[in-house]
Amino acid sequence: MRISVIGCGYLGAVHAACMAKLGHDVVGIDVDEMKIAELSAARAPFYEPGLEELLMEVQKTGRLKFTTDMGAVAESEIHFICVGTPQKKGENAADMTYVDAAVTAMLPHLQPHSVVVGKSTVPVGTAGRLSDLVAQQQSSAHLVWNPEFLREGHAVADTLQPDRFVYGVFDGSEDHPAVALLDAVYSKPISAGTPRLVTDLPTAELVKVAANSFLATKISFINAMAELCEAAGADVTRLADAIGMDDRIGRKFLNAGIGFGGGCLPKDIRAFMARAGELGADQALTFLREVDAINMRRRSRVVELTRELCDGSLLGRRITVLGAAFKPESDDVRDSPALSIAAQLQLQGAVVTVTDPKALANAARRFPELHYERQLDAAISGADALLLLTEWNEYRELDPHDVGSVMVSQRILDGRNVLDPEKWRAAGWTFRGLGRA
Ligand code: UDX
Repeated sequence: MRISVIGCGYLGAVHAACMAKLGHDVVGIDVDEMKIAELSAARAPFYEPGLEELLMEVQKTGRLKFTTDMGAVAESEIHFICVGTPQKKGENAADMTYVDAAVTAMLPHLQPHSVVVGKSTVPVGTAGRLSDLVAQQQSSAHLVWNPEFLREGHAVADTLQPDRFVYGVFDGSEDHPAVALLDAVYSKPISAGTPRLVTDLPTAELVKVAANSFLATKISFINAMAELCEAAGADVTRLADAIGMDDRIGRKFLNAGIGFGGGCLPKDIRAFMARAGELGADQALTFLREVDAINMRRRSRVVELTRELCDGSLLGRRITVLGAAFKPESDDVRDSPALSIAAQLQLQGAVVTVTDPKALANAARRFPELHYERQLDAAISGADALLLLTEWNEYRELDPHDVGSVMVSQRILDGRNVLDPEKWRAAGWTFRGLGRA
């Protein structure tokens, strides 16, 4: 099939490459010339495991091209909208500028019987509004909503073998013509067993924000338990293991620590609350305010624990932060709790060095005032305290004896509860975890 993908960021670039891998002829379109130049040379403009290899593989087949020319959509029968919907400045609501601009720019090139597929995370009601615009331009064209659930760091696998497809169509009917078309696009994963659900447009839009709200709630739940464990002298990691053995609860997404960040969960729960308010259903989501508050409290808690770790004062203390990305296997620093904590420590007088295997360039753009050091040895050398804030494998595997020999004082705070406290304490370290005695 001939496919266009509009927006080549974390979502669109991966989607374009994966659609070509599934055998389709794909053109990726973006307004950012630099990004298009990189992708055209089979280089990923951001770090995502496996993406660069995939770009090289599919570009050799001639099935994947990139351009800044929106006119290229005229050659395709299906158009995926993959642009971002960040949080509006100074407001909780989603900024729809990029979605609206993409659709407006695409409409004049829309061919009869083509299908526009929304993948971006949007406030419920957007699809209905855009669907009217598409119908006014081409009465035989359709707009459907097909939310994306990929996780950064696993984006290629999540796109090629997702755990479900959701198709939102105007009438919610399996007989809608776009259903067969999307089945053809995804025929490989569907024949490999990926289930798919057909819903109406608002349900499909809500599935995405509901899923992210649930995940955020799960993380904040365990972080609230961490607060209690700290007060009661209990261990949240053992508590999570024990409650997670109940199939109805499950152990995934019950890792207590410095909380969630990234380009999705924080802004999605806020945009969801804002939209619920517009719909007169704000009471239904007041719990998300608490989810957000618990999450943000984790960051302040780490600053306080670091102060305690440094004998009550941060002034002049040399603190090394391990990890800047919002999660491992990503260079994304959008709303990264690790970077936010690093910046707060620095503001309170600590001398902070941040290290990360992939995210330092993005981090330096976001917080130029922090000191960055790529080499782990150099970053750790002479530090008064270590903070493990993003659980990259290389930090999980640190040896307390090796690390201790280059530090001024052996103090560590494990913000992700991934280290073995006994091992570090036995090596002479003062060790603090989150939600652990
Ligand atoms: C999320 C959703 O998982 C994905 O389905 C959606 O499409 C986009 O948003 P992503 O933001 O890539 O994906 O990362 P995710 O793995 O969900 O992690 C989000 C944040 O939660 C990270 O900061 C992570 O460190 C944190 N987290 C995750 C925890 O603090 N504890 C956990 O147990 C799990």
